[in-house]
Amino acid sequence: MSPTPSNAPKKRIAILTSGGDCAGLNAVMRAVVLRAETLNWEVIGIMDGTHGLLESPPHYAQLHSKNMDTVVMRQGGTILGTTNKGDPFAYPMPDGTLKDRSGEIIDAFKSLGCEALIGIGGDGSLAILSRLAKQGGFPLIGIPKTIDNDLGATEMSVGFGTAVDVATEALDRLQPTAASHDRIMILEVMGRDAGHIALTAGIAGGADVILIPEIPYDIKNIAAHIKKIRENGRNFALVVVSEAVKTAHGQSVSKDFFGGQKRLGGIGHILGEQIADACQAETRVTVLGHVQRGGQPIAQDRMLAAAFGVHAVSLIEQGKFDRMVGWQHRQVVDVPIAEAIKENHVVEKDGTLMRTARGLGICLGD
Ligand code: F6P
Repeated sequence: MSPTPSNAPKKRIAILTSGGDCAGLNAVMRAVVLRAETLNWEVIGIMDGTHGLLESPPHYAQLHSKNMDTVVMRQGGTILGTTNKGDPFAYPMPDGTLKDRSGEIIDAFKSLGCEALIGIGGDGSLAILSRLAKQGGFPLIGIPKTIDNDLGATEMSVGFGTAVDVATEALDRLQPTAASHDRIMILEVMGRDAGHIALTAGIAGGADVILIPEIPYDIKNIAAHIKKIRENGRNFALVVVSEAVKTAHGQSVSKDFFGGQKRLGGIGHILGEQIADACQAETRVTVLGHVQRGGQPIAQDRMLAAAFGVHAVSLIEQGKFDRMVGWQHRQVVDVPIAEAIKENHVVEKDGTLMRTARGLGICLGD
């Protein structure tokens, strides 16, 4: 860890957040800044993901330990802004056409005179950044963040723990009201095509039924399970469902948004009606939505953020690039970005948490 000698030009590195936000992003940036300052390096933060590089001049902020302090570290969201729209290789233009703007982004990044870029993102963002880095020949380090926890080669991504805590707290709050009114409460959580949030929070929050996209369900099995609970004298039940769980007819439930984007959501309400009919019971549905992404990061996410941010700068110091930092077996590690993004890390059907859920007698719908 030798700082740049005082007469040498100061090294400059850049960082950006890309994709959907989550809790812990500011904590990652703070760790990067603090570690970079031990080397006497300068850090700039590119605004709004790669969109900041499409502005003229490029839009960035100077980051240092005075503005990346412990107040910012505790905050949810990202002070740099982010976006999960506008793939630079097929960028939607005002006239409705798609344009490859990768060259503009690469030129803008190069104009900033940075040694390397640290991209904090999920699978989609890291795939785009990796493609840009290869095309532009600039060094890249990835830091995994996503509430979905669906990146490969890391057991945890920044933001996942906080989202699970929020969903667990929602179950803690739904349980007493469910019991007071003899109701079946359905909680719909995010997670895209991976059921990690539903499974983890469902176990932690004492759910009776957990439905995830990886396991096809039959409404009859859910109804039979709830019937047994009632026969045993309990008057309420808690059901957690992942947003990407399909209908009984195998259709995903989503809404179209501006720009042709599809957003998952709504399966909870469909199941709510079906469970009410099948169980002859009152159901209520809560769609947790973006509260899973906001709020203060829990300790685990701050710890991961610190370890990832420090390690990312150390990789740049060592000249090791095209790597994503990750967490495996209680250690921070680094792996080729390509390995982390090669496939969506979904719930393993015979993994520990699935066996735990079955062992607890939780109905998984199958
Ligand atoms: O990938 C993170 C995530 O929160 C998913 O769980 C969810 O499906 C999606 O982003 C929501 O995206 P948006 O913020 O565009 O509504």
